[in-house]
Amino acid sequence: MPASSPLFDILTLGEINVDLILGHDARPIFGQFEKVVDDATLTVGGSGTIFAMGAARLGLRVAYCGVVGEDTFGRFMLDHLHQRQIDTRGVIIDPTLKTGLSVILNVPNDRAILTHLGAIDALRADQVDAKLLAQCRHIHITSYFLQHNLRPGLAALLAQTRAGGATVSLDTNWDPSERWDDGLHEVLAQTDLFLPNEQEARAITRTSTLDAALSTLASTIPTVAIKNGAAGAICRQGNQIILDPGFPMPVVDTTGAGDSFNGGFLYGWLHRWQLADALALGCACGALSTQAAGGTAAQPTLAEAQALIEQRKSQLL
Ligand SMILES: Nc1ncnc2c1ncn2[C@@H]1O[C@H](COP(=O)(O)OP(=O)(O)OP(=O)(O)O)[C@@H](O)[C@H]1O
Ligand SMILES: [Mg+2]
Repeated sequence: MPASSPLFDILTLGEINVDLILGHDARPIFGQFEKVVDDATLTVGGSGTIFAMGAARLGLRVAYCGVVGEDTFGRFMLDHLHQRQIDTRGVIIDPTLKTGLSVILNVPNDRAILTHLGAIDALRADQVDAKLLAQCRHIHITSYFLQHNLRPGLAALLAQTRAGGATVSLDTNWDPSERWDDGLHEVLAQTDLFLPNEQEARAITRTSTLDAALSTLASTIPTVAIKNGAAGAICRQGNQIILDPGFPMPVVDTTGAGDSFNGGFLYGWLHRWQLADALALGCACGALSTQAAGGTAAQPTLAEAQALIEQRKSQLL
């Protein structure tokens, strides 16, 4: 930890974009056909911002670094970050770019997503303010494979930050190129806590089972938590392996469940909780986040997530 008391628990470096969610039967019909859909929600999108909103909801002091355009969607995102007391002094407003946008077309049991990257991948490592970095006890990186401009300087930035005493977590999310490389291994070497889902973990390690992926990753990364949808998550720290079966419940929308999980797990990890308790909080935050459309509307407070954990414990008695 830095010598003076840090101002922020977490600095997130990542994308900033809105999600426009259309449903419940939004399959488009081409040929100039105007189809009426029965629901439309404009909400906070982007793995990094959904994570930051979830972590802030739990009570962590969060700062954000990313790029928006000088436009309505950019202002929408900044407003929502401010509503959860997230510090945005590290957000760059670039008038030459448009704020990123994903349009999510929901149909029963499936969805299609159209994304305009805009400013999503614009952040460069040399734009991250050194003073801000020094004020944070932890750095969280999201959507590694989308961050085309951040990637080249990221490993060096993280090495420098860790030398100052901060810790680092990473959730790559999916790699649209499916190369699963692009300097990732240099960044993993600077990662204290890695948070992929099962498919991502297997692809990155080029292994075919969850167990093999977990042991490969845990041989070099101090803490690894692998998410597995409704089945919960598994975590390894050294030789300690903990499995959490999750909190099965009827789902409204799983967008950003992984990011809400990350916020919960990181809360426990930063507070040096027992691994099983951190994993349970991650799973509870992920599960509760599925209870409303979009990634942030149903993110729980610490008390709400803990109530779900207590309820599960009482059912097991
Ligand atoms: N259908 C579900 N029912 C209950 N809990 C869920 C469900 N989906 C996800 N969760 C909870 O959220 C956590 C993270 O979800 P998931 O495994 O989908 O992560 P992810 O693939 O990284 O998601 P994302 O799409 O946000 O990147 C899970 O470990 C689980 O605890
Ligand atoms: Mg994910």
